[in-house]
Amino acid sequence: MSDKEIICLGLESSCDDTAAAIVKRNADGSAEILANIIHTQTDVHAPFGGVVPELAARAHIEYMDVIVEQTLKQANLNYSQLDLVSATSGPGLLGGVIVGLMSGKAISLAHDLPFVAVNHLEGHALTAGLSDGLSPPYLLLLISGGHTQILQVNAVGDYQLLGSTIDDAIGEAFDKVAKLLGLGYPGGPFVEAYAKQGDPTRFKLPRPMKGRKNCDFSFSGLKTAVLHAAKAIQPISEQDKYDICAAFQASAADCLADRVKRAMLLYREDRNIAENEICNLIIAGGVAANKAIAKKLDELGKNHNFKLIVPPSNLCTDNGAMIAWAGITQFLKGNVSPLTAPPKARWPLYE
Ligand code: KG4
Ligand code: ZN
Repeated sequence: MSDKEIICLGLESSCDDTAAAIVKRNADGSAEILANIIHTQTDVHAPFGGVVPELAARAHIEYMDVIVEQTLKQANLNYSQLDLVSATSGPGLLGGVIVGLMSGKAISLAHDLPFVAVNHLEGHALTAGLSDGLSPPYLLLLISGGHTQILQVNAVGDYQLLGSTIDDAIGEAFDKVAKLLGLGYPGGPFVEAYAKQGDPTRFKLPRPMKGRKNCDFSFSGLKTAVLHAAKAIQPISEQDKYDICAAFQASAADCLADRVKRAMLLYREDRNIAENEICNLIIAGGVAANKAIAKKLDELGKNHNFKLIVPPSNLCTDNGAMIAWAGITQFLKGNVSPLTAPPKARWPLYE
């Protein structure tokens, strides 16, 4: 292992969070977050019930410079004390990605710092190293507003996709259910709060993909089932909303657990790991903040010898620290990016 000490500024702008962070990799390999600032654009997108790409890009332009300055101030550092700059270069909304990527390149050029273009998904995939000092191999469930996938993380740079959604992302389904019930945006935390007061057994909702041999997900039918259930009982009361949220959340959690259970089996088979050997399961993405889902996955893990690790929620949702950490990790492998590195709307980790 390298005993290099590296301080990296990481920028993130692939969706609706403008984020910057400074992370220090110590000589012993441990990570220290020196500053971590996120400007969330919730207010901009709330009236539309979802992220509007053009508005997101404009807000990134407005805030990225400000946030970078704040980050340096919080870490009490100046540019000359940095060793590296990294920025998300995809996948994501292209207009936003361009803002962070160009800012990172400009800082690299102006201050003569090496630059690493980071895959946003790799940022999520390596977060456990940042938060818990955990190295691959592990199983990763990435559940956010844009992604729903199970990855087998064999090593840094060696990722296998075990399953992904064939339609909506799970966070998107939470947001759509909240929207159709007239709750707030983003919908996940509202649905979770409503579900706490509801009866999950009153409405019978489907468990799409449950029992399938692969590890794929589907949430669009579940969302439509919620729509039909709500339509059938108009006018809808607060208690109805509580019960619908509870039923939806229980179904979503069941589906996740069923697909992850399948992935656990495939992971052991592929890596030739005995049933009684403890493995690690990491969850990342905004939906990982949902306590009911985490509880369900924890129970599943206990029954199948997988230890569940949930990084703190500010590192589960989009942030600059995970981009800085992924940048450091790639840099230590000898990877730096040219200033011609392009923004990418699509960039699967496993190709
Ligand atoms: O990772 P994230 O911040 O952004 C990206 O999508 O990349 O995830 C945002 C998603 C939203 O769909 C939001 O509704 C969902 O995460 N979310 C939750 C909860 N908190 C956030 N979903 C369910 N329960 C929550 N407590
Ligand atoms: Zn993300």
